[in-house]
Amino acid sequence: MSAFPQSQRQAEQRPGDDYNVETAYARWAPMYDFIFAKWLEPGRRAAAAAASGTDGPILDVGVGTGLELPLFSPAASVVGVDLSEPMLHLAKRRVRRKRLAQVEGLACMDACRLGFKDSSFGCAALMYVLSVTPEPAAILNEVARVVRPGGEIISIGRISPELPALAALEIWVGRRFGSQIGWRPHFPWKVFDDWLKSRADMRLVERRRIAPLGLFTLVRIQRIP
Ligand SMILES: C[S@@+](CC[C@H](N)C(=O)[O-])C[C@H]1O[C@@H](n2cnc3c(N)ncnc32)[C@H](O)[C@@H]1O
Repeated sequence: MSAFPQSQRQAEQRPGDDYNVETAYARWAPMYDFIFAKWLEPGRRAAAAAASGTDGPILDVGVGTGLELPLFSPAASVVGVDLSEPMLHLAKRRVRRKRLAQVEGLACMDACRLGFKDSSFGCAALMYVLSVTPEPAAILNEVARVVRPGGEIISIGRISPELPALAALEIWVGRRFGSQIGWRPHFPWKVFDDWLKSRADMRLVERRRIAPLGLFTLVRIQRIP
């Protein structure tokens, strides 16, 4: 059961955040790989390499169509979860087609209410997920629960530059088009910063810009042993 009551999830939401992730990704699923495979790949590679370097097993949160699954080490043990059945259907097809032995299982699950026991994983990978969800802190709290002490949370995604005019534009676009596009264009570092300040048991290990053009940021957080 999630440690995060619905009221806390709602408290995290802001105007424009009331979109439904499942509806948005049911729409994206048929064209997702065509649009997002290539230019998000360097980030997936970096996150998969970092995750494969941990002791594992790896929980891939928001696995989507499974584009990152072949990028984990063949020696890894990976469980993928996603809220969207149509995205997950494509991930399952990819695992079968490519015979990805490192994938132990794929399940439809809300990352805010993971059905795993505490400390079940050595690593949780979040690839382009936190800016999609209206409740990033609730997801971080829940993945922190299932990662064991000494394990890591590894995230790749876009962090908004600290430019007030750009922030205002991103917030406007999010409010106006958030429900259609299914993500928040405005994702400031403050989301991680506030969360880290609220968690004495977690520490930032790495924050690194990734191609293309340093547009995305790899963040590694360790649950303090
Ligand atoms: C932008 S896609 C990224 C997919 C994949 N990781 C990749 O790199 O292409 C974000 C995915 O996160 C999933 N997602 C969003 N919120 C979620 C939640 N609360 N629980 C589980 N999955 C979620 C969406 O359904 C979608 O498949």
